[in-house]
Amino acid sequence: MRRVALVTGGTRGIGAAISIALKDAGYRVAANFAGNEEKANAFHESTGIPVFKWDVSDYQACVEGIAKIEAELGPVDVLVNNAGITRDGMFHKITPQQWNEVIATNLTGLFNMTHPVWPGMRERGFGRVINISSINGQRGQLGQVNYSAAKAGDLGFTKALAQEGATKNITVNAICPGYIATEMVMAVPEKVLSEKIIPQIPVGRLGEPEEIARCVVFLASDDAAFITGSTLTVNGGQLFV
Ligand code: CAA
Repeated sequence: MRRVALVTGGTRGIGAAISIALKDAGYRVAANFAGNEEKANAFHESTGIPVFKWDVSDYQACVEGIAKIEAELGPVDVLVNNAGITRDGMFHKITPQQWNEVIATNLTGLFNMTHPVWPGMRERGFGRVINISSINGQRGQLGQVNYSAAKAGDLGFTKALAQEGATKNITVNAICPGYIATEMVMAVPEKVLSEKIIPQIPVGRLGEPEEIARCVVFLASDDAAFITGSTLTVNGGQLFV
């Protein structure tokens, strides 16, 4: 039986590459998205991967969305918590809204998505939860106090939940991408990107979404059964941890 994989934020950027790589690896993939219907439909047209719209910051919407996917495709064996947003700004300028939106999506979204699939994974004795954190959760980033706090929280979530899943053959791991060539990174002012960020990357370039997707495919596989609670750092040498 082909395993079912659900990727949040799975129709654009790193998430789209993850959805495609999992499909190519033989999974039945469902891609969740929150907002950009046009991009999601184009993604569905070009890949054949079914897309499902809801906001991961809404617990009830997650419960309902997951139930729909499980009815159509079967129980979720692999959950990739990839959906994330930025609301960058210097701390003295950010608003409570900018703080709350980022925490709700990038941190609480992991609870909202994982909590409904967890009992089924425990019952079936198999599961893979892969959380896409960030280099900026590992080291902090100027202009991203909200984002860095959420992404660091994702690492604590991963390490604690890994301990709970271990006896049930459920692994929980995190990947920390560095700066990857996606719309999110391209939204950084060009001067900041070219003068401050790229010079900090020893390999001298942004990463490609597929370079993260290949890591997800590995962590989802049976070959990775002994890896749990770990953080895979994928950043072109920008930070060693
Ligand atoms: N690294 C190093 N220096 C940075 C920087 C960065 N990422 N971002 C900003 N700076 C520097 C600026 O160059 C500037 O320095 P100078 O005064 O010497 O020129 C100083 O910090 C203040 O920046 P701004 O003048 O741009 O201040 P602002 O108030 O107009 O804007 C900002 C602040 C919104 C934070 C804007 O600088 C910005 O968007 N920076 C990028 C922040 C960033 O790295 N975000 C990551 C987005 S990608 C992502 O999040 C994916 C992931 O997981 C890696």
